[in-house]
Amino acid sequence: MEAPILSVVGVTKRFGGLVAVNDLSFDVRAGDILGLMGPNGAGKSTLLNIIGGEYKPDSGIVKFKGHDIAGLSPHKICHLGIARTYQIPRPFTNLTALQNTMVAAIFGRGLEKSAAESEATKVLDITELSEKKEVVAKDLAALTLKRLELARALATKPALVMIDEVAAGLIEAEIPKILDILKEINKMGISIILVEHVMRVMMEAVDRIIVMDNGVKIAEGTPKEIMEDRKVIEAYFG
Ligand SMILES: Nc1ncnc2c1ncn2[C@@H]1O[C@H](COP(=O)(O)OP(=O)(O)OP(=O)(O)O)[C@@H](O)[C@H]1O
Ligand SMILES: [Mg+2]
Repeated sequence: MEAPILSVVGVTKRFGGLVAVNDLSFDVRAGDILGLMGPNGAGKSTLLNIIGGEYKPDSGIVKFKGHDIAGLSPHKICHLGIARTYQIPRPFTNLTALQNTMVAAIFGRGLEKSAAESEATKVLDITELSEKKEVVAKDLAALTLKRLELARALATKPALVMIDEVAAGLIEAEIPKILDILKEINKMGISIILVEHVMRVMMEAVDRIIVMDNGVKIAEGTPKEIMEDRKVIEAYFG
C-alpha cells in the first residue's frame, strides 16, 4: 500500500491545564477526503493549527511527504505543500479577490507577479469567483469570502488542503456549489481534510471521518459507520 502523505502520530497539545489535543493519531493518503468532526471545543482547529505550523505540539510526530514538520514555521509547511483556510476568513479587506489570491501565489509559492496572476485567475475559476475578481474583499458576501479563502489556499498549489468550516453559515441552497468545488479540488489530485458541522457536507463530500471529543479521537470510519456509532451520538447529545 502507498505510504500516507500525512501521518499524525501520538500528537498532544496542552494550553495550561487543558489538553486540547490528546495523543491523537491518523493518516491521510494521497487523494483522500478526510472529514474531521466533533462538538465545539473538541480540538479540531487546534489540530489544524498544529499540522499547519501555527502551534508546536507538546509531543508526537507529524510527517508530511516524509518530512518531519512538527514545529516548522507555517511558511515552511506551506512551501512543502500544505494549505489551509480559516474558520473566520482572513482576506486583505482592501484588496480585490484577484489581488488577494495573487498574494497567496506570490508569498505561498514564490511566483512572480505575472505568473501569480495567471495562477490566481485559474483558481478563481475553479472556486467560481471569476465574476468577482475585481471586487474588494470587504464588499464580498459570506459565501463568496469562504470561496476566496479556498482560492487563496489553492493558489499555493498544495498537495493537501485543510478546510475549516467552509459551509458554516451557508443556506441550504448554497451547499451544492460548495460540494461541487470540493469535488473539483479533489479531482486535481489534492487531498483534503475537512472540518465541518454541516452534516450534509460531511455525508456527501468525504470518504472517511474522524470524530474528536475533548481532544481525543473517539471514532473513525465511513460516514455511515460514524452516524451509527453510539460514542459519537453520546459526544453530541450525551
Ligand atoms: N490559543 C489557545 N489558548 C488557550 N486555549 C485554547 C487556545 N486555542 C484553543 N483553546 C482551547 O482548546 C480547546 C479546543 O479548541 P478548538 O478551537 O481546537 O476546538 P474546535 O473543535 O475547533 O471547536 P469549534 O467547533 O468551536 O471550532 C477549547 O477548549 C479551546 O478553548
Ligand atoms: Mg474550530
